[in-house]
Order: sequence, then structure tokens, then C-alpha cells
Amino acid sequence: MATATSIASPRTSGAATLLLLAAAAYAQPTLNIKEGGLTYRSHCAPCHGLEGAGGRGPALNTGRFHHATTDEELLRVISNGIPGTEMPGQFYEEDKLRHVVAYLRSLSSHTPPKGDPARGKALYAKLACSQCHRIAGQGGRLGPDLTEIGRSRAPAHLRAAITDPDADVRQRYWTVRFNDAQGRQHEGLLMNEDTYSVQFMDITERLHSVSKSGLSNYRVEKVSKMPSYKSQLSPAELDDLVAYLASLRPQGDAR
Ligand code: HEC
Ligand code: HEC
Repeated sequence: MATATSIASPRTSGAATLLLLAAAAYAQPTLNIKEGGLTYRSHCAPCHGLEGAGGRGPALNTGRFHHATTDEELLRVISNGIPGTEMPGQFYEEDKLRHVVAYLRSLSSHTPPKGDPARGKALYAKLACSQCHRIAGQGGRLGPDLTEIGRSRAPAHLRAAITDPDADVRQRYWTVRFNDAQGRQHEGLLMNEDTYSVQFMDITERLHSVSKSGLSNYRVEKVSKMPSYKSQLSPAELDDLVAYLASLRPQGDAR
């Protein structure tokens, strides 16, 4: 017990005893990987994949994390989420999350994408992906910035994004179409809308804000502006392109 005294600076001895008991309880190997797996399956697998191989969220089975090194840091990432990303704050009880952390630690079979990043980079240029995507400040704005895409998305998601863009389109990239009061047709990426107005970005990247009164044929389509490259790429070329995208990470974040 004496060694645990430094863990907290309790105000009363009663509280001290409770804290020490709590600390002692956490020190016990009571982590339940199976239970963590159940929580993981229902709350995390939709984005991170059943086996942690990733999808819309990054792979969690590599044994390395961008946002965390220690279990405590992992715990914080999972309970707070990552602001500005799709990683939600989950607010579970801490002990439940510890099981999830234990489960994550139990997964680590990482197979890096098998393609060749250098050939993938050449393909990216040849197919003019930069028409719509930026990497390190270069390129268009119609699609998401890909500068660090390898950090937040797993290879399986990157592959699907290229071959089947309509499968998983975020709201920010939905298409809005309508005719204005003069009957002219408009189309663009839905940036925002409320009852009275709609904001959208047209194909030339210009932003528009339009009052909804007087518009006709107003519709929002959850399809991607990105063409499918499925029929243009051989399986080996697709591997190369995925390997290139997966390699796009913040400096010093190789894995
Ligand atoms: C709606 C999709 C979504 C859900 C649900 C979700 N995540 Fe995430 N998660 C993400 C995304 C996207 C990121 C990457 C954020 C970034 O760095 O850009 C992420 C990042 C993480 C990271 C950091 C990875 C790293 O390399 O540092 C961890 C750990 C994590 N999630 C664990 C979980 C756990 C555990 C759950 C379930 C309790 C969960 N996530 C639920 C989308 C999700
Ligand atoms: C005409 C514009 C356009 C072109 C050309 C284009 N994309 Fe996209 N791309 C988009 C848009 C818009 C989205 C977001 C909607 C979606 O998920 O499909 C997107 C999404 C993506 C995503 C998913 C990003 C994420 O955050 O999940 C990847 C990866 C991607 N594109 C790669 C490519 C590659 C590689 C090429 C070239 C082979 C390419 N794109 C060509 C418009 C384009």
C-alpha cells in the first residue's frame, strides 16, 4: 500500500483509503479482452473494421497509434474522441474502456499494403487525381485533402473509395441540384442548407449562397462527384495507388 500513496493527494484519510483501493483494483490484471471485444464490435467496428483492420477509420491492429503511445493516452483518445475528425467521444465508464484498450492491444497483425508507392504516385499524376484533390497544397478542392489520408483511413477504405466512390459518401460531398426562378439548372456540392437557403460549391470551386424560395426540382443526391476507376486500373495498379495513398502521413509517422 505504501508505494501507492503517491498516486493521489487525497484530502481526507477516508478518501485516501477509497482511492488506494481503486488504484489497487486497477493494478489487478482484471482486464477482460473478451468483454472489450464485445464493446468494440458494437461501437467501433463500423468504422475500424471487425478485426481492427480499419475502414472509414484507421487500422487499429498495427500495434502503433498516431495519437497515443501509452494505454492511458489510448484511453483518453477513446473517451474524448479526436476533435475535428470523425472519431467521436464515447464517454463510456473508464473501466469499460480499459477492456477495449486491452482488446486493441490484443490485435496486432499488420500486413502493409502490397503495392509499390512510387508507381502509385506516378499513377496518381497520370490519372489527374489532383484535379479534385490536394496533396501538400497542390491540387483542386472538390474532393477531400489527401495530404495525410494514410493516417486516418485504412487501405481497404482507400481501395473502396477508388473503385466504388458512391458506397460511403460523407454529407459534405453530397450533390445538390435545382432550377432557379429563371429555370436555369444548378448543381454543386452541398456545403450547408437550412429551411431558407442553400450553400454549395460548383465544379469550378466557386461558393454560392442561394435563397430557397422560387427554386424548383430541388434535390439532394448522396452520390460522389468522383468517378469510379474500377475499369481503368488493373489489380496491380490499384494496389500501387492504395500503397501510395496509405503512405501519405504526417512527417515521422511511418508504420
Ligand atoms: C464514425 C466512425 C468512428 C467510430 C464509430 C469510431 N472511430 Fe475511432 N477513429 C475514427 C477516425 C476517422 C479516426 C482518425 C482520426 C484522425 O486522426 O484523423 C479514428 C481514430 C481512432 C484512434 C486513434 C488511432 C491512432 O492511430 O492514433 C483510436 C485509438 C480509435 N479511433 C479507437 C476507437 C474506438 C475504440 C472506438 C469505439 C469505442 C472508435 N474508435 C469508434 C472513426 C471512428
Ligand atoms: C471529379 C473530381 C474527383 C476526381 C477526378 C477524383 N476524386 Fe477522389 N474524391 C472526390 C470527392 C468529391 C470525394 C468525396 C466523396 C466520396 O467519398 O466519394 C472523393 C473521395 C476520395 C477518397 C476518399 C477520401 C476519404 O476521406 O475517405 C479517396 C481516397 C480518393 N477520392 C482518391 C482519389 C484518387 C486516387 C483519384 C484519382 C485516381 C481521385 N480520387 C480522383 C472527387 C474526385
